[in-house]
Amino acid sequence: METSETPPAPHARGPRRRALVTGASTGIGAAFADRLARDQYDLVLVARDAERLEALAKRLEARSGIQAEVEAADLVVASERARVEARLADWAPDLLVNNAGFGTVGPFAELDLDREVSEIELNVVALVRLSRAVLPRMVERGHGAVINVSSLAGESATAYNATYGATKAFVTSFSESLHEELRDSGVRVQALLPGFTRTEFQERAGVKVDRLPEFAWMSAEAVVDASLEALERGAAICVPGVQNRVLSVAQRWVPRGLRRRAIAALGRSAME
Ligand SMILES: NC(=O)c1ccc[n+]([C@@H]2O[C@H](COP(=O)([O-])OP(=O)(O)OC[C@H]3O[C@@H](n4cnc5c(N)ncnc54)[C@H](OP(=O)(O)O)[C@@H]3O)[C@@H](O)[C@H]2O)c1
Repeated sequence: METSETPPAPHARGPRRRALVTGASTGIGAAFADRLARDQYDLVLVARDAERLEALAKRLEARSGIQAEVEAADLVVASERARVEARLADWAPDLLVNNAGFGTVGPFAELDLDREVSEIELNVVALVRLSRAVLPRMVERGHGAVINVSSLAGESATAYNATYGATKAFVTSFSESLHEELRDSGVRVQALLPGFTRTEFQERAGVKVDRLPEFAWMSAEAVVDASLEALERGAAICVPGVQNRVLSVAQRWVPRGLRRRAIAALGRSAME
């Protein structure tokens, strides 16, 4: 990701656009921040790990000549989330990337309930609240965009990953609905549905993925490039990567019960 670009003069190309990215400390969120800085967006970077965010902000400012501010917040905690909501309403960015999220793996009846609820708080509640904080000003201005990072996992029931798949089904449905509500408003809403992407996600979820073939994976940078290209086209849904698009279309032809059982079998084998 490192290049030795000369930073352009501040505002050399007119007033810069502004974006707030959640989950920007690593993975897909950090890749969004990197690409948006190259595209001359000023940034607010949100995640829990302030040190990582500060290091990224400094690097992007030095490389791309943009302004990058850090808002360290745990988006599961209502009071910390409220700070980010207030900042969104006040700063009124051109783009919000609701990317922060995590997954849990295992039989639901055995998983820690508080962690499952936190997963819903982050993947769903924070995304809804942040969207609501930013949209009124975007609609008023007739311009802006929200990218909600969902997952291919939201396309089917995901046994042994039940809460995660359900949160992502919510995110995709919610985003598609907003896309239609805002169709004539000048505001774009996209659901981004990545498949397996090389980040810290799988390790944090404690899922074994070493048996997956290389072609199943994408880089976070390629996911972000596909998302921003789809945003230009005004697409409601972005499924990045040919392999993921084939999977997404092919699974629609598999009867629902069979698909459910096949995914459950895969889930069981990933835990062995
Ligand atoms: N990787 C994949 O295969 C894959 C596939 C489909 C969809 N996705 C989705 O892509 C999004 C990004 O995931 P990733 O793959 O980049 O995972 P990742 O590498 O684990 O990054 C997750 C990001 O979310 C932040 N985060 C986690 N909990 C948070 C909290 N309570 N409050 C604020 N920020 C929090 C993390 O930062 P801190 O730890 O510093 O807070 C980190 O920046 C997620 O929504 C995920 O569901 C990923």
